[in-house]
Amino acid sequence: MNFTGKTALVTGSGSGIGKSIALMFAQAGANVAINDVSQKDADSTAQEIESLGREAISIFANVAVQEEVREMFESVKSTFGQIDILVNNAGITRDGFLMKMTEDQWDQVIDVNLKGVFNCCKFAARMMSERQYGKIINIASASAQMGNIEQSNYAASKGGVISMTKTLAKELAQFHINVNAVSPGFIETPMTEKVPEKVKEYLIQQIPLGRAGKPEDVGNVVCFLASDQAAYVTGQVISCSGGMYVLVYKDFMVTDLTTANLSQEIMTKAKAFGAGVSTGLVNDIPSVAELVSRIASDAEKIIQERISGLSRRIEPGVHERRSLRREGNTCHLSVF
Ligand code: NAI
Repeated sequence: MNFTGKTALVTGSGSGIGKSIALMFAQAGANVAINDVSQKDADSTAQEIESLGREAISIFANVAVQEEVREMFESVKSTFGQIDILVNNAGITRDGFLMKMTEDQWDQVIDVNLKGVFNCCKFAARMMSERQYGKIINIASASAQMGNIEQSNYAASKGGVISMTKTLAKELAQFHINVNAVSPGFIETPMTEKVPEKVKEYLIQQIPLGRAGKPEDVGNVVCFLASDQAAYVTGQVISCSGGMYVLVYKDFMVTDLTTANLSQEIMTKAKAFGAGVSTGLVNDIPSVAELVSRIASDAEKIIQERISGLSRRIEPGVHERRSLRREGNTCHLSVF
């Protein structure tokens, strides 16, 4: 890729995936505007870009606030005179089980992840349309495509980003602006650092390519979409998840059946997993808490009967369907 003479703005590029994208653009010759709500992190990325011999500016702006975004685009215009590439990367999570999620958790995530993309696309499109050239790449998430426990706010925001990408691709094609989305799966960044180790191991087991993604894996796809090699690609969502998104079936709790106190083990693992439904299963809904202990006793029966590969339906009702399946020493509890 060669971005010599191009200007890119990457939101949330003080850390993680955004930082990686900004550096990759600079390595390929672009000048880059760095945006973040952490001035320190934005300054640090900008310095790294300058050390590569490119121009960079560091802009503190909250993408959720339209006035701050308007000022950010004015700074880009006065510094570089143009914008060729916008990457809407800034994003946050405020996870919680639906019945416990606060209005504030919902609003914050929708404001940054969805309204932030609207704000930035609006001002970028005005500048890009004047020059009849532009590339907009929105960072979505596999959570939007697959659904993810405790992420109703996050998945909804990213689902909105996907829908907006398709609509803007149609609206802005007349100005020769391409709009696409990249949908990462599980990528190692500060955002995912807080995921408990056991859950990380579990998630990696769900990835056909057998590893977590790196920020550069996402950066490579973004660079392609930002390049003129992708001139005939618009309105698309490119998954970058090591094959994780291909899977639609989800086991969310795994336990070792050799453990003596199986019932207790299932409860502990459910809590350790930290997933909303697990928490909900154990604490929130008495009938489901009871179900968990019944599942434990069913699991013991399964061992006794030495039935392998059994899928057993248990108490349909609160959720659509639950099943317990045994594979060797592993018991899978699934919710569909
Ligand atoms: P991160 O937390 O490492 O980086 C996000 C950056 O955005 C931070 O520097 C943060 O300060 C900045 N930011 C947050 N709110 C902002 C705001 N209102 N205005 C401007 N900047 C703001 O996260 P990561 O992992 O690098 O995520 C980047 C994007 O990729 C996000 O949109 C995220 O939802 C998405 N993503 C990440 C995945 C992962 O596994 N890490 C998976 C799927 C999607």
